[in-house]
Amino acid sequence: MATFTIKDNRTGRSAEFEVLDSTLGSPVVDITGLHKELGVYTYDNGLGMTATCQSEITFIDGAKGELLYRGYPIEELAEKKNYIEVCYLILHGELPNSDQYESFEKDIRIKSYPHEGIKNLFSAFPDNGHPMAILSSAVSALSAFHHQHLNIKDDEEFMEMARRIIAKMPTLAAYTYRHSMGYPLIYPDMDRYFTENFLYMLRAFPTGKTEISEVETRALDTIFMLHADHEQNASTTTVRAVGSTGAHPYAAVVAGINALWGRAHGGANESVIAQLEMIGSVENVDRFIKRAKDPNDPFRLMGFGHRVYKNFDPRARVLKRLRDELRDTIGINSKLIEIADRVEEIALNDEYFVKRNLYPNIDFYSGTILEALGIRKKMFTPIFVIGRTVGWITHLIEQKRDPKQKIYRPRQRYIGKKRRSVP
Ligand code: CMC
Repeated sequence: MATFTIKDNRTGRSAEFEVLDSTLGSPVVDITGLHKELGVYTYDNGLGMTATCQSEITFIDGAKGELLYRGYPIEELAEKKNYIEVCYLILHGELPNSDQYESFEKDIRIKSYPHEGIKNLFSAFPDNGHPMAILSSAVSALSAFHHQHLNIKDDEEFMEMARRIIAKMPTLAAYTYRHSMGYPLIYPDMDRYFTENFLYMLRAFPTGKTEISEVETRALDTIFMLHADHEQNASTTTVRAVGSTGAHPYAAVVAGINALWGRAHGGANESVIAQLEMIGSVENVDRFIKRAKDPNDPFRLMGFGHRVYKNFDPRARVLKRLRDELRDTIGINSKLIEIADRVEEIALNDEYFVKRNLYPNIDFYSGTILEALGIRKKMFTPIFVIGRTVGWITHLIEQKRDPKQKIYRPRQRYIGKKRRSVP
């Protein structure tokens, strides 16, 4: 057994802890008995050095800029597979054969219809409410419409729930958008593939033909796929924390949606476009870069930096290529892309960003692609939600299967008042 010794220099006491190997990446030190042995806890602000669970789903090598779903590199999946095949892979651990794909994909189409009653919910929200606020409420409400499915007993019921929530998320997201635009809520079109159907639900009117090109479907499908899972990120950790209490999966997913909304996480895709709009022109880029480098200015360059990737985000690399292809096929070329290109050029050559390993992340490119597809920026984070739903649920299933899983209950370093008497 490989061990790791921790010595307390104050007392001279030391203790040995088991080192657990990982299939890929760094091994971990099992410090479960640390407090019992040495009377201390670890202090890990932001949990950057802590493995909170064991997982088989996704692997990231931040130094290499590598991302694997169930062992497959994201670049190969993006080239050869569609989002629904990747959902199956993430959920089941292996890519589907043609029969498995057919029945999985069909079930997702069937389940895309939400209960008719859920539509009433949307009319209660103001038109200008943020889609993330409405979406999280709608998913929470979904649990009331499926209360008979909340007490999940086995894997089969869990998979059924997974397909249900993956299938309904685009419909609910489209409803939030349509409500905010004052458009009538429409039904999903069962003849369309998942991603095409979502674009249809954003664009369609009760009469008239809705044009959706294959290039557009493929572009959005790639975006969904690149967002499908990302190991123990903030929203997934939130989902697992809620799941660890025994709360039902809808409650856990809603918590994930709300965690994702933050600007440092999924909300960054909306903020990137807002920031490019604020920069306004290529001539202003230098001024904003200067602000981003000023330690006394809270301004940060949105779409740059990552807790784990200290090299190019591999998802960003795929999206950069996709954006360049779209320039040729659907002719996207906006002022915002010009500004984005200039920001990237300066930042990648600036000592401040180079020294801190700050590279463009997925959100830096996804916004400009979504904009080119005619999608409004307030829908960018809900699109991240659609893609990430499969990851959240798979983590819940993995957690449920783990006989050693415990309620999340971290400790703290208390720095408040000592005990005192009430005067
Ligand atoms: N612009 C300017 N400076 C930055 C940025 C940025 N975007 N990101 C980090 N830094 C600086 C930071 O000020 C610090 O400098 P110093 O060492 O002088 O104090 C250093 O880089 C390290 O930053 P950190 O905040 O300790 O890094 P972190 O790992 O805690 O934060 C992050 C990661 C993604 C929250 C952060 O880079 C950030 O806020 N980026 C902008 C928001 C963004 O694009 N988020 C999307 C992340 S990818 C999608 C997802 O997975 O959710």
